[in-house]
Amino acid sequence: MDFKNFVIVALLEFGLINCYLPPSIQVCHLADPDLDQCIIASVNGIRSNIGSGDFGNGTKLIAMDPAFVDRMDIDAGPSLQASFRNCTVTGAKTYQIDKMHFDVPKRMLKVLLTLAEMNLRGKYIMRMKLSMLQLDGAGDFTTNSTDVKVLLKIRYAPVERTDSAGEKRPGVRFLPVDFKVKFAGPVRFYLQNLINGQPELDSIANEALNQNPDLLLEKAIPAIRQFFSERFTAVANGLVQDADLDEVFPV
Ligand SMILES: *[C@@H]1O[C@H](CO)[C@@H](O)[C@H](O)[C@H]1NC(C)=O
Ligand SMILES: *[C@@H]1O[C@H](CO)[C@@H](O)[C@H](O)[C@H]1NC(C)=O
Ligand SMILES: *[C@@H]1O[C@H](CO)[C@@H](O)[C@H](O)[C@H]1NC(C)=O
Repeated sequence: MDFKNFVIVALLEFGLINCYLPPSIQVCHLADPDLDQCIIASVNGIRSNIGSGDFGNGTKLIAMDPAFVDRMDIDAGPSLQASFRNCTVTGAKTYQIDKMHFDVPKRMLKVLLTLAEMNLRGKYIMRMKLSMLQLDGAGDFTTNSTDVKVLLKIRYAPVERTDSAGEKRPGVRFLPVDFKVKFAGPVRFYLQNLINGQPELDSIANEALNQNPDLLLEKAIPAIRQFFSERFTAVANGLVQDADLDEVFPV
């Protein structure tokens, strides 16, 4: 092969290798002795992309910050029934990675991160028995929290995918992400009109709720986990859907 052909082949290959993953993703090599550090840098480098869902060159996935949640329900029997609608969640892009480990043989990443803040606003309907108070409200709500700890377990499997030319290629698929959350800092709720028809009791009722935020939070956590698990899995798979296994996880 003469030099000119070599350059063309090299350019073609370079082009092919780079056209599957969005350009914002910094790839890490599995054999890198600093693999975990490399991934931390890579994840820190896509903060604004995670927020907007725009990863460049036409890869537009669902936005994480703000994230829109059309519905989240809590059914904890007669003591608590709630439905949160049309919610906007902000704070996902305030993540700091505290720890991260990639277990290459198990194809599993564990990430411990802290969200500096996580805020929600939207509409709610709720019935809840809170010591002496029977809450029965509907209206607008806001919830603000800081220092939210998140543990993610991300596993992937090699799969066969079909590329745009109809060729079978070795691809990657992320399994549903395991998302655990702990509200380490203070959590404040404000639910407007918490005792229907008695607005003068709003501040007392909210104060009572904020005295024991865990009563509501613990019941809300399964819905929060499920929501973020689905979102993270969708974003992770959206990023790699057109990529080869060895492009996402090169040796
Ligand atoms: C985006 O795609 C265009 C056209 O395919 C390409 O020329 C450009 O280099 C890509 N940008 C990045 C940052 O990869
Ligand atoms: C949520 O938003 C949709 C579309 O904007 C609207 O039709 C619906 O009434 C809203 N639901 C509540 C409970 O506000
Ligand atoms: C949460 O923060 C927003 C924006 O700063 C504020 O408007 C709202 O009142 C706060 N809610 C609570 C419950 O503190």
